[in-house]
Amino acid sequence: MRTSKLPHVGTTIFTTMSALANEHGALNLGQGFPSFEVDNVWGDLVKKHIDAGRNQYAPMPGIPELRSALSTKIKRSYQQEFDSASEITVTAGATQAIFTAIQTFVHAGDEVILFAPAYDCYAPAIELIGAKAIWIELRYPDYQIPWKEVAEKMNERTAMIILNHPHNPSGASIDASDIQQLISITKDTDCIVLSDEVYEHILFDERQHQSVLRYPELRDRSLAVFSFGKTFHLTGWKMGYIIGAAALMSEFKKVHQYNVFCCNTPVQYALAEYLEDEEKYLSIPKFYQEKRDKFNLQLQSSDFEILPSAGTYFQLLNYKKISDASDVEVAVEWTKKYKITTIPCSVFYPNQLDEKVLRVCFAKDDATLERAVEILSQIKA
Ligand SMILES: Cc1ncc(COP(=O)(O)O)c(C=O)c1O
Repeated sequence: MRTSKLPHVGTTIFTTMSALANEHGALNLGQGFPSFEVDNVWGDLVKKHIDAGRNQYAPMPGIPELRSALSTKIKRSYQQEFDSASEITVTAGATQAIFTAIQTFVHAGDEVILFAPAYDCYAPAIELIGAKAIWIELRYPDYQIPWKEVAEKMNERTAMIILNHPHNPSGASIDASDIQQLISITKDTDCIVLSDEVYEHILFDERQHQSVLRYPELRDRSLAVFSFGKTFHLTGWKMGYIIGAAALMSEFKKVHQYNVFCCNTPVQYALAEYLEDEEKYLSIPKFYQEKRDKFNLQLQSSDFEILPSAGTYFQLLNYKKISDASDVEVAVEWTKKYKITTIPCSVFYPNQLDEKVLRVCFAKDDATLERAVEILSQIKA
């Protein structure tokens, strides 16, 4: 047996907790995916393009119609022009875009700055190259980026900073002052900013999403990653895209073409057509904000501390009034005892920092959320 390239990686917590949820018939608020039906136009839309014979390989960076629709969307959302021919690539979900971007720009021995708690796909991609993850902690309760520490950790080996905002798992967002810090810290360096913005449209209370694409000062060094799965409740379709300056994108495509080469053709045509109606994405913040508000309001009389959630479809709950047990123990015990499954936040920290916080996903239908509130409200010390 050859030595593992990822010796520390086992089964992910999402798989473990979902299996436990199934075993115990528990309500699963663990993994982040919607439980409600998708827009009913999709079936006809995709079938139309399959029937029209659009079933062979797409152009490597994506079909021109979809890239053009995305260029328009970015202009509308972030007031910046990105050339559909040279600055946009369609990917197999955000995950592939992230993996490919890391492969493209990070060399063995480089350092990559990452923020914990972190979504789980960044660190293994860095480790596979033989580069080093430099972790910076975002801490309970507000999970803001400590920019002074970022500046201290930057050096000539720093190849990349990976940002994720709105942030999974905390639901925190960044504002314009964070971006100013980012600009000043990365100015005159060759550090790439990889900005994971899959929750760009799931941002609440009239906040403006601070995409790196808004900022011409970051253009020479930033790539932003998005997910149709997250935006249109189609996580199983694994479709996403990445946007950045032509010089960066041309390097990205060198790797992308040997990674997947291209993505699902009829679905790309369907997405291009769907994007013609901007209401489809402009209506999303309201849709999820109503879910967040209803869920949190009903939970107010419970013994959980409900942490502020600026965006994403995740809500953090602190349970320190209820139990002293570790978050992993609590998540497992409550799946078995109360039949509700959550994700312990310590798993998003490389050092398993346990702040007695659980993550729940509220991208669920009303009946599921009501049942979840009923169960959570019964859990007492
Ligand atoms: C922060 C973050 N980035 C990327 C992804 C992956 O997106 P996709 O399913 O499009 O690969 C997820 C999915 O949960 C996520 O939460």
